[in-house]
Amino acid sequence: MAENKVFIFDTTLRDGEQVPGCKLNTSEKIELALKLEELGVDIIEAGFPISSPGDFHSVDEISKIIKNATVCGLTRAVQKDIEVAAEALKNAKKPRIHTGIGTSDYHIKSKFNSTREEILKRAIQAVKWAKKFVDDVEFYAEDAGRTENEYLAKVVEAVIGAGATVVNIPDTTGYCLPYQYGEKIAYLTKNVKNIDKAIISCHCHNDLGLATANSIAGVIAGARQIECTVNGLGERAGNTSMEECVMILKQHKHLGFYTGIKTELLNPMSRLVSETMRMPVQPNKAIVGSNAFSHSSGIHQDGFLKDSLTYEIINPEEVGADGSKIVLTARSGRSALAFRLQKIGYEFTRNDIDVIYERFLKVADTKKEVVESDLHELAKTYLVSVAAV
Ligand code: KIV
Ligand code: ZN
Repeated sequence: MAENKVFIFDTTLRDGEQVPGCKLNTSEKIELALKLEELGVDIIEAGFPISSPGDFHSVDEISKIIKNATVCGLTRAVQKDIEVAAEALKNAKKPRIHTGIGTSDYHIKSKFNSTREEILKRAIQAVKWAKKFVDDVEFYAEDAGRTENEYLAKVVEAVIGAGATVVNIPDTTGYCLPYQYGEKIAYLTKNVKNIDKAIISCHCHNDLGLATANSIAGVIAGARQIECTVNGLGERAGNTSMEECVMILKQHKHLGFYTGIKTELLNPMSRLVSETMRMPVQPNKAIVGSNAFSHSSGIHQDGFLKDSLTYEIINPEEVGADGSKIVLTARSGRSALAFRLQKIGYEFTRNDIDVIYERFLKVADTKKEVVESDLHELAKTYLVSVAAV
């Protein structure tokens, strides 16, 4: 296995779909799963089979049609969950059961009214049950972000001993700072004796806006799988955004990591997910927001028009975006105005632009954006006034 490949585990259809209003039916899930495979994700978490007959059916159908990606089903550390997940995954070419249990004292005491020793036993048992059905078993230590490292290491070592192939270290509540999450992964890498037998996975939530930063810190510290969603959808403030992680690893080549994602499909995928899940993307969202490649202030526009690298670190084509946009507002400058006029067929001298610019500013002060029809109006009025002299 290539050491520096970072596996992309997409959980849009499971964690992403938990968002109120984003529920998907089976045909929507199938359509998205096929597109995720085309995008190049390594693992598709298709659902939580025991949660409802509909979700069981979705995982079952996705298992039948996905050819290259691993198809994964979520379970609790409960025998029945695992049996049902195995049944839903039985036709998958590469099935994975994702089982686990809360390991922080919050979960152990408040949720399970249990003890660390008891939870450790349940974790081992869950992996053993899953191993009866599939070779590829991922174990999640829910709320690992707030789990004491020494106990977490003990759990991780034990589940790898029981056969887990991937160990997921979720920052379930989005609590960690990047250096803390990175240290947690580094601690496991150093202190879990059999860690070389499993892949460490990052699963970070975005409650403090740190999900992407934490996942990258995890990879730098030794993790080789990122669990993420398209557009960062997920419980509460969301999950790690796939497009951000993929582009960070691609941009920062010096880190030496790569993914199998076809980055030119990121924007089409984002649009499809947004439409299917009825969840608009915020305009300023990195990589896939409608303003991600828009320039509107005069200083930025001037620099961008001289050399796009001055204000853009990513070529929009590389991520399948429509292209860079020069948006005209009252903060725009003369070069942007001349550029936009030229694009719609008007060639003006510098002196002409000086005059039109004064008129442009008056229009711009009354509107949020000066659009193409305004530009035609400005150009025509100017040409008429010049002809009349
Ligand atoms: O956030 C979380 O801890 C999860 C687990 C179920 C993997 O989604
Ligand atoms: Zn989660």
